[in-house]
Amino acid sequence: MTTSSRDGFSTAFGVLVATLGSAVGLGNIWKFPSLTGANGGAGFLLVYLIATLLVGLPVMIAETMLGRAARANAVSTFERVAPAAQHGWKIIGWMGFLAALLILAFYSEVAGWVYAYIFKAIAGDIATTDPQVAGAIFAGLVADPLASLFWQWLVLGITGSIIMLGVAKGIEAVARRLMPLLFILLLILCARSLSLPGAAAGLAFLFSPDLAKITPAVLLTALGLAFFKLSIGMGCMLTYGSYFRADQNIPLTATRVMLADLSVSLLAGIAIFPAVFAFGFEPAAGPSLVFMTIPAVFTAMPGGTLFMTIFFLLTAIASVGAMLSLLEVPVAILSERYRLGRRRASLYTIVLVAVLGMPAALSSSLTADLRLFGLNPFELFDFLSSNLLLPLGGILICLFVGWVYGLPETARQLGNHGALRNSWLVRAVFFLVRFVAPLSIAAVLLHGLKLF
Ligand code: TRP
Repeated sequence: MTTSSRDGFSTAFGVLVATLGSAVGLGNIWKFPSLTGANGGAGFLLVYLIATLLVGLPVMIAETMLGRAARANAVSTFERVAPAAQHGWKIIGWMGFLAALLILAFYSEVAGWVYAYIFKAIAGDIATTDPQVAGAIFAGLVADPLASLFWQWLVLGITGSIIMLGVAKGIEAVARRLMPLLFILLLILCARSLSLPGAAAGLAFLFSPDLAKITPAVLLTALGLAFFKLSIGMGCMLTYGSYFRADQNIPLTATRVMLADLSVSLLAGIAIFPAVFAFGFEPAAGPSLVFMTIPAVFTAMPGGTLFMTIFFLLTAIASVGAMLSLLEVPVAILSERYRLGRRRASLYTIVLVAVLGMPAALSSSLTADLRLFGLNPFELFDFLSSNLLLPLGGILICLFVGWVYGLPETARQLGNHGALRNSWLVRAVFFLVRFVAPLSIAAVLLHGLKLF
């Protein structure tokens, strides 16, 4: 039984791009701008930055470390690293299983909109700088139940076929080819947006904070975004960590991924907000923001159709790496714990997502009135995962590492068993994981949910 060697990332560069491929996604290009817009701009950005540094990064490091130490899926990891009497910690893995399905249910739908917009861009259907027209086009797409399901299933079909290929041949191979392209295209887009008349108002919105707009709910949203962005709190980084090379410097890799991911978000913000103000869109438009402003930015420029098409193509590509990492959590759990084989585990996961994704995809049509806490299924899945399951998972991971796993073992793992000299850094990370992160997550969670 010990002979079968586990799949994993093959090179240090592969680890970096695959992990970055997980972090970078619709979270940067769709969620970050729409949440920043809806929550008042720079103040939100500031809170998001603090949450990323004090909570996000340490949790990311801790989570990745557990996976690499155990070399197992999100559930089995806790059976290996927890003391014999404490296998209950594997609840973290099962919560991650659920969170992955919930996130995929709405994420695949947004990715579906992006795919649809690639074709609309080519056909010239979204060539407008009028907010009213742009809004109507988007509303038309989401209100069509068949189109919504079609695009979602297409996305699931494509990502499902890649995930079946495995970690090195599927996830890593795709990330390697696609990540560099994404950066180049974003830079072009920013240059265009910044050259618009009125760009300054957009930059001011993004970079001069108004602290009065920071409410407890905004804090929770920013924290949820930090978790969502770094793919943490549900075993995703843990699962990827289990494929890391033994000599990979985990704190350094995590920091690089965090910085690169942040740059992509800021670039997306710089690409979008100047255009929002220049063309008179509403920054608080919510999930539809990107689908209205981006066409406007390009329509107003020469060669717009081409750039618009490339932009949506690249957003689609960015969504792939992130979805693969989300899929990998249940796929690894199912295939390793139930000996299903990778193909079958992938197939079951895709079917589960398709079923759960249906009410999310129909949230602007057939299931629009199916509301819980005032949220339609799409909003509910997003809220439950980002603002509840991820922070809860984050607290549990912190408590486990900070109070059960302990400093000596953490130092051994993060120091690659003595190969790295980073003990002061490990101490700092450990302090954040043991005290600062769990307390701040708990405070923000309770406050944001209005429990005290
Ligand atoms: N980070 C990705 C994005 O921003 C989404 C994502 C991938 C994710 N894996 C995750 C979010 C795990 C939460 C948990 O698009």
